[in-house]
Amino acid sequence: MPLVTTRQLLDEAAKGGYGVGAFNVNDMEQIQAIMEAAKETNSPVIIQASRGARKFAQDNYLYHLMLAAAELYPEIPLAMHLDHGNSFETCESAIKLGFTSVMMDGSLKPDGKTPATFEENVEVTRKVVDYAHERGISVEGEIGVLGGIEDGHGAGGSGLDHVTDPDQAVEFAELTGVDSLAIAIGTSHGAYKFTKKPDGSVLKMDLLIAIHKRLPNTHLVMHGSSSVPKDLQDIINQYGGKLKETWGVPVEEIQVGIKNGVRKINVDTDNRLAITGAIRKVFAESPEKFDPRDYLTPARAAMQKVVAQRMTQFGQAGHAGDYTAISIADMAQGYASGALVTKPLVAAK
Ligand code: G3H
Ligand code: 13P
Ligand code: ZN
Repeated sequence: MPLVTTRQLLDEAAKGGYGVGAFNVNDMEQIQAIMEAAKETNSPVIIQASRGARKFAQDNYLYHLMLAAAELYPEIPLAMHLDHGNSFETCESAIKLGFTSVMMDGSLKPDGKTPATFEENVEVTRKVVDYAHERGISVEGEIGVLGGIEDGHGAGGSGLDHVTDPDQAVEFAELTGVDSLAIAIGTSHGAYKFTKKPDGSVLKMDLLIAIHKRLPNTHLVMHGSSSVPKDLQDIINQYGGKLKETWGVPVEEIQVGIKNGVRKINVDTDNRLAITGAIRKVFAESPEKFDPRDYLTPARAAMQKVVAQRMTQFGQAGHAGDYTAISIADMAQGYASGALVTKPLVAAK
């Protein structure tokens, strides 16, 4: 099937009551790992690329790899998403390239570091929504700011510094018309999210539930959702790595989120850990090897295992067959006619 929009995937996921993993990629092996996991579990999937990934891989390589994935796995509904777009121009270039959805992360200024004002966030997100919807492309916005820094992107600090205010979330959804909304509930990007298993004092699931109550039909997005499993940390450290002890977001908490409106779950770090552990193992156990296939093959398999597990845990497994692709032109028509407007947006008091 052709690349589909994230909006279609999330609408379908809402009907089915499940979440869809959005996995970050930078190269061919990561795309292959995700597609094999999707085939193994019969799952729809979102593959996403950050600005850093676009720079690392180059747009044309990335796009053509995604087309190859759609061609090789016609049974898998697949969306190509821009992760953390920092400006209108970044989103525009992704849409021109062929991404089927974009995130306009207006929670930060275009430097990708400094928290933006609410007004700045609304203004740039609304501009992206107008441009994208006219072209049938879905938009994710963010209200509140995540913690941590990845590849120079992020406000840094704790995930609790700028958690989402439910009133602002409502106002933001009303003013921007986004298809999905990323919220900040205490998570951070990267491996170092929590210094112990998170409880309600650091991971604000109550806040997520409050936002969902106010915006019952808005697809919520959880960023920074790697679980940072101990076994993956241990493999890295066993083979010469130096990770400090750390905790991620427990899968059970993500599942609570999925019961409360979370439809897109962003995972990158867990796959990075799986890949690095597998490569370190080969290097440590077989130092004579130098054919990249000797370490990239187990690395790819290790990532596939993590992705397949998450697909099962998020509930998307088994749902690939539910979809008939809606064309981008039909999505544009749906936005123009008002058929894709989220109704009712705000719950009656
Ligand atoms: O947003 C964070 C993702 O893990 C992407 O990270 O910007 O290092 O590619 P990146
Ligand atoms: P993790 O670092 O927890 O995998 O989060 C990834 C993410 O949110 C990408 O946008
Ligand atoms: Zn993110």
